[in-house]
Amino acid sequence: MRGIKKVTEGIFWIGGSDRRLERFENIFPIPEGVSYNSYFIDDEKTAVFDTADVSVSDQYLENLKEALGDRSLDYLVVLHMEPDHCSQIANVVALFPEVTVVGGMQTFKFMEQFFPESAGYKKLEVKEGDNLSTGKHSFRFVAAPMVHWPEVLFAYDDASKALLSADAFGTFGALDGGLFADEYDFKKDFLDSARRYYANIVGKYGPQVQAVLKKAEGLDIQMLLPLHGPVWRKDLSFFIDKYNKWSSYEFETDNAIVIYGSLYGHTASAAEAVASSIREKTGTDVKVYDVSGTDVSYLISEVWRCRKIVLMCPTYNNGIYTPMENFLSDMIALGVRNRVFALAQNGTWAPVTVKLMTEKLSQLKDVTVVEEALTIKSALHASDADALNSFTDAIIRA
Ligand code: FEO
Repeated sequence: MRGIKKVTEGIFWIGGSDRRLERFENIFPIPEGVSYNSYFIDDEKTAVFDTADVSVSDQYLENLKEALGDRSLDYLVVLHMEPDHCSQIANVVALFPEVTVVGGMQTFKFMEQFFPESAGYKKLEVKEGDNLSTGKHSFRFVAAPMVHWPEVLFAYDDASKALLSADAFGTFGALDGGLFADEYDFKKDFLDSARRYYANIVGKYGPQVQAVLKKAEGLDIQMLLPLHGPVWRKDLSFFIDKYNKWSSYEFETDNAIVIYGSLYGHTASAAEAVASSIREKTGTDVKVYDVSGTDVSYLISEVWRCRKIVLMCPTYNNGIYTPMENFLSDMIALGVRNRVFALAQNGTWAPVTVKLMTEKLSQLKDVTVVEEALTIKSALHASDADALNSFTDAIIRA
């Protein structure tokens, strides 16, 4: 049972962890690795909920065969058709040709797009409210469209009161020998990764997450079984509250972050001066980030955490410094809302980035741009003390 872990009576984790992939979705750096969770149901009928990524296929198929022993697989349930979970469908069907593949209408449409041979599979199409009984366990399907793909289904098990929640409640981070969130110091080990995962992958779909959370309110959920990261069996409200907050674009802290672009260090020095001034005046924590040296996914995660965002940007080719422009575009793509921005610009002859960044930010809803901006001509000097002082006063008042 090397790779198999018991979740609860009749439910086993048979997934795998990947610590070799550099970037999830070929975008997001994952130095902490990632797990691909798959759940095996050991009941009168056997079932598997989702497969795993190709990177852990050997371990995954070995786990599945070991979990089954000399039994055959009755059901392969596909809650999510993204390749990090569906890559092993063909291998599983090849091993167990009599298996019934279970999914929604769109699941099978996407399945045929990825795997044309799936047209010949034995299928059971389900929709919201349908039940799949395996004997003692009975799984009720809940549609979760656009969390974060359209075909996504959740499944609620009446026996264990577990919610199999697809990507929702997932996180980056390989499992280090544990399975349950309560086996870790989640706040220390996973919370930042969970926020970064949510903000960058699901963040655009806050209203859809809110809609499915409302549906889930009617269920007596005792366990959360996501497709990535640890399983929840205690203190679920901690993580559900975070999801509620993140999906309604509420911030976790009123504290400010300062994100700067700097070609030669002058705007960087000014950013330090702004952070120092805010700290001195408020005694609160302020984080400072170099937009060129910090992967944008970490900046997006910080935007989800904090209410006040100070952007300090050099003028570059008469426009916005490219890495800052990329960050602004990502915020627009993800539909950031309900935040306060304060803007500073640097330019040796024609600073224009306050105007240009304001125009960009106007594409975001429920966003305030602090009226008072800071302009630096090449470098911040002692003579700029009054301007700096009133800039940070305005940020604190906002
Ligand atoms: Fe983990 Fe949307 O795939």
